[in-house]
This record gives sequence, structure tokens and C-alpha cells, in this order.
Amino acid sequence: MKAIILYDTRSVGGSTDRFVDALGKSLAETGAYVEKGKCKATADYSFVQDFDVVIMGAPVYYLLVSSELLGSFFQSNLKKYLRRKKVALFLTCGSPEPMAYMMYLPQLKIQLIRNKILAEKVFAPQELSDKQAIDDYVDNIVQAYRKALKTRNSTLVWTEDAQELLAQIPLFFRNRIKIAAEEYAEEMGYREITVNVIDEAKAELE
Ligand SMILES: Cc1cc2nc3c(=O)[nH]c(=O)nc-3n(C[C@H](O)[C@H](O)[C@H](O)COP(=O)(O)O)c2cc1C
Repeated sequence: MKAIILYDTRSVGGSTDRFVDALGKSLAETGAYVEKGKCKATADYSFVQDFDVVIMGAPVYYLLVSSELLGSFFQSNLKKYLRRKKVALFLTCGSPEPMAYMMYLPQLKIQLIRNKILAEKVFAPQELSDKQAIDDYVDNIVQAYRKALKTRNSTLVWTEDAQELLAQIPLFFRNRIKIAAEEYAEEMGYREITVNVIDEAKAELE
């Protein structure tokens, strides 16, 4: 699994920065390849297409999810490159959990209504350095990711023509096309991956 943690914080070296490092370490311990990137509202997010899972989160400041992450949904191409990505969400904040789930998480989730959300968690200040809480969150992400892959692979059938076409695609690009075709078919409700489905999925990647 290739995962990227996209996050924001106003406090360099603060609680979120330290939490993201611990999260990345915990995820890497499961065998995942992990990168992290600090959000900028006007950044180019095309690199997101190289990852299987996008983990997103930030602190809440004055009732709003930190602005460079929230702003990225409106001012950049992030939403385009998140299309059909599996995502996991986290927030760091001081409010009680029910309030955080009701008021803060929806600020992110409303932008991700067509995404598969593998896991979501609001981390209270004392949990940000709690290895067990971080490992549990990572475990939820990994389990949900494996389950999503298993479900997809067990219900989709590749036609012979489609398999032949896939075999002709250069190796370095083949896996990306395979995943894109399967994700596309899944979203469109197709049971079978044909040459046409691959073409449609490829067109969406361009
Ligand atoms: C200026 C400021 C405003 C905050 N506003 C809120 C808030 O509205 N709701 C909340 O639940 N927590 C709020 N918090 C708590 C932070 O979300 C929490 O401490 C977070 O872990 C800070 O992350 P950081 O260390 O990366 O800045 C605020 C913290 C600060 C410093």
C-alpha cells in the first residue's frame, strides 16, 4: 500500500507535526510505503494519483479545520485527483468528541461524498502522543483497505480481450491502469472489465 499523509498545521513542530510523524512511522511498520506533505491551498496535487490511500487531517482552529487543508478543496486541483481515492481522515482538536464528530469532521466529509472513507478519527490532545491510539487508527485503515481490495477482486471479472490489452501496457504503467479500471468499474457498477471500460478509465486519468 502506498499512502500519503496530507496535513496542515499553523504550529511548526507542534502537536500535529509530531502526531503526523508518529502516524507515518506506525503505518510504515505495517509494510506500507508512506510519504507526508503539508497542504497549501493553491498547490498542484497531481502527485496524489501515485498513491493508493490518502490520509488527510489537520487541527481545528476557531471552529474550522485548518485553512490550508480546507482551502485546498476549493482553490486547487485536490478534489480532481482525489476522485475515487480511498481516504482516511483525522482531526486534532480540544473539543469533546461528539461536538468534533458533529461540527468538524463534516467540513472534510462533505467534500468527499464519493470517496471510500476507510477510517476517521478525532484525536484529543492526550491521544496525539498515545502510541496505542495511533496504532489502532492505523490498524483500522489497513484492515479497511485490505477488505476493500478483496471485495473488489472477488466481484470483478476481466474479459480475455481486456486481459490481453492490460498485458501490452508497459509494466511501470500497468498497475496504475489496472487499479484505475477496477476503481472505475466499481464506481460505475460494472461487473465485467472490458476493453471499453479500460479506455474509459484511461480517459479519466488523462
Ligand atoms: C488558536 C487556537 C484555536 C483553537 N480553536 C479550537 C476550536 O475551535 N475547537 C477545538 O476543538 N480546538 C481548538 N483548538 C485546539 C487545537 O485544535 C489543538 O490543540 C490542536 O492539537 C493544535 O494543533 P497544533 O499543535 O498543530 O497547532 C485551538 C487551538 C488554538 C491554538
